Amino acid sequence: MFLKNIKNNSITTRLTLFYSIATFLLITVIAFFLYGTTIHILHKANYHFLSREVDILANLIKKKSLNWSMLEQKVIEVPYTETGSDYHYFIRILNENNQIVLQTPQMDEVFHHTDFFNKKPLSSHKKIDWWSADKETNYVLIQAPVINGETNKYWRIQIALDISYQQAIINKYHSILAFCLIMGTFFAIFIGYFIARKGMRSLYDLTNATKKITATSLHQQIDPESWPKELKNLAMAFNQMLKRIEISFSRLMEFSADLAHELRTPVNNLMGETELLLSRNCSKEEYQQVLGSNLEELHRITQIIDNIMFLARTENLSLEIKKNPIKVAEEINLICDYYQAMADEKNITMSVHSDAVLFVNSIMFRRTINNLLANALKYTLEKGWVKFIIKEIDKRVHISIVDNGIGIAEEHLPKLFNRFYRIDSARSKQSGGTGLGLAIVKSIMDVHHGTISISSQPGQGTEVLLDFPK
Ligand SMILES: Nc1ncnc2c1ncn2[C@@H]1O[C@H](COP(=O)(O)OP(=O)(O)O)[C@@H](O)[C@H]1O
Ligand SMILES: [Mg+2]
Repeated sequence: MFLKNIKNNSITTRLTLFYSIATFLLITVIAFFLYGTTIHILHKANYHFLSREVDILANLIKKKSLNWSMLEQKVIEVPYTETGSDYHYFIRILNENNQIVLQTPQMDEVFHHTDFFNKKPLSSHKKIDWWSADKETNYVLIQAPVINGETNKYWRIQIALDISYQQAIINKYHSILAFCLIMGTFFAIFIGYFIARKGMRSLYDLTNATKKITATSLHQQIDPESWPKELKNLAMAFNQMLKRIEISFSRLMEFSADLAHELRTPVNNLMGETELLLSRNCSKEEYQQVLGSNLEELHRITQIIDNIMFLARTENLSLEIKKNPIKVAEEINLICDYYQAMADEKNITMSVHSDAVLFVNSIMFRRTINNLLANALKYTLEKGWVKFIIKEIDKRVHISIVDNGIGIAEEHLPKLFNRFYRIDSARSKQSGGTGLGLAIVKSIMDVHHGTISISSQPGQGTEVLLDFPK
């Protein structure tokens, strides 16, 4: 639930949180490590101090003739003289019968000599056991057996080292570490938030720059150089997207302007003729004639609308269109049959032979051939010819529609695929053209990943080459 909440939170919050958790964990680990090492060092120092004291005492006891005054001085006086120092300790020496031979005054108050055995040794060093004392007493204890040189019996040395001052330091150390942990975490939250915000700044700037872009300022680009490396690609992709949108947008504007222009003329004609008809008393024949020509205009309008709908659909098609295998020559011959009457009228011969097979959308393919054949027949004079040449090259099929018609001047060639582009508007319109035929063919070739190219010589003829992938 919490993680889900974080997921929906801002990146700044998430970064700050993760950064703070990481810092908290790091400080905790370091604190534990430092604490552990300090305790270990202190333990070691205590042990060394105690074992050194044990050694000194053992050397005195081991001697054949025991130097009592020195031992007494060591046990009774020395610790006292050091009371003010850091190492405040008490010594006791027990004989083989567990009786006290010598002990520092107040040693019994600190630890009764039997208490030593009730404790769990910290570690056992051959002849030395040492313990950590109770928490409230804060002593470290050591006990070592030693052979008395005179009696050859085992005596024992017991030492209690007051480590209250160490405990005080450790407690202070504790508080300092806890303080560092809390402050460090707060600091990490603050720094993390600051860093995350600074890191996200570019993103906010990008957002602001994006907000400023409107339909009229699509040409505005974001300068990718001023962004950090990670956002450079985003800025570049964003610019490319803007470019694409701008192109589409201007195409759409152009298209709607053309559309309005194309539709205005037939609609004006319709209005004009209808108004004229209404303003006069007309005969039945006149009515029939005007309505007939109006119907023709309406047919043209319908054709334009149909074509535009088709273009819009084709351009918005996803990559997946329904394809099926077709026999190229068979399909083309079917369309030629449909146009036979028109061809016969002009004495135009058409011919096609091939056994090439294509995997295409058959409706779109028919529409392509239909448009191109209609153009070829339209712009070919009497007694001309229209030929289909089909070639299979590697994994591609080339279909050429060649005519010996009026041809196209070079300057028009690059614009032929623009919507509503017609070379001779009046004539094209007369022959029922809308200027959308080649634009439709081009968009069909695009969805099939094919290409279209036109070469032409005015007065000699035109060749349209369709290059289909198989
Ligand atoms: N085979 C051809 N021979 C000569 N001109 C052609 C041929 N095909 C197309 N054109 C020219 O290209 C223009 C655009 O063709 P198209 O997009 O089919 O529009 P439409 O046929 O409706 O005028 C035509 O107006 C015509 O001038
Ligand atoms: Mg046409």
